Amino acid sequence: MEAIEAILSRKSVAMLAAPAPSKEEIATLIQAAMRAPDHCNLRPWRFLVIENEAREDLGEIFGEALKKRDPDANEAMLSKARSKSLRAPLIITVIAKVEDHPKVPHIEQVLSAGAAAQNIMIAAHAMGYAGIWRSGKPCFDAHVRAALGAQEKDQIVGFLYLGTALKTPILRSEPISDYMENWTG
Ligand SMILES: Cc1cc2nc3c(=O)[nH]c(=O)nc-3n(C[C@H](O)[C@H](O)[C@H](O)COP(=O)(O)O)c2cc1C
Repeated sequence: MEAIEAILSRKSVAMLAAPAPSKEEIATLIQAAMRAPDHCNLRPWRFLVIENEAREDLGEIFGEALKKRDPDANEAMLSKARSKSLRAPLIITVIAKVEDHPKVPHIEQVLSAGAAAQNIMIAAHAMGYAGIWRSGKPCFDAHVRAALGAQEKDQIVGFLYLGTALKTPILRSEPISDYMENWTG
């Protein structure tokens, strides 16, 4: 697929099934991620590839996190939280590795990791897969952060759920004029 076609036709898909990208394809996705712009070459990212039973481990962490946030959460709520990580055969968790730097503020490092995440989404789509970038409370939860090894300044940028689309998404075109203007000074 041509790059412009891939970018213009990407659409999030929540209902995903196997097959997921193969080991080789995942390596290509990570290489694509690492082509993101990166001020001062800080490489401000970590990519956690979560497949197979590891998804259940992540689900356990989501459940534990909910229990800590809400000690009154009932079994149905906990079970729902645990099952979230099973919504796709592959999850790539993107973590911005943020450090204090004289030239590169934290926001730029998080933006770089975000650009890396989007490169993964587009590359996966170009390979014929689908996915959705999700955050939710787990992204900002202390228990989840600790379990995934996020340091104090790090930011979990998102959980990229990837696999094969169970339903073809509908693309709607939007006028660029709602967002773009020629600024003439
Ligand atoms: C940082 C970030 C976090 C997001 N978190 C969620 C989320 O937790 N749940 C969700 O349904 N969509 C989330 N989204 C939105 C979806 O990824 C997606 O963009 C949205 O469903 C619109 O679909 P589209 O990408 O096809 O336009 C998030 C997007 C971004 C950029």
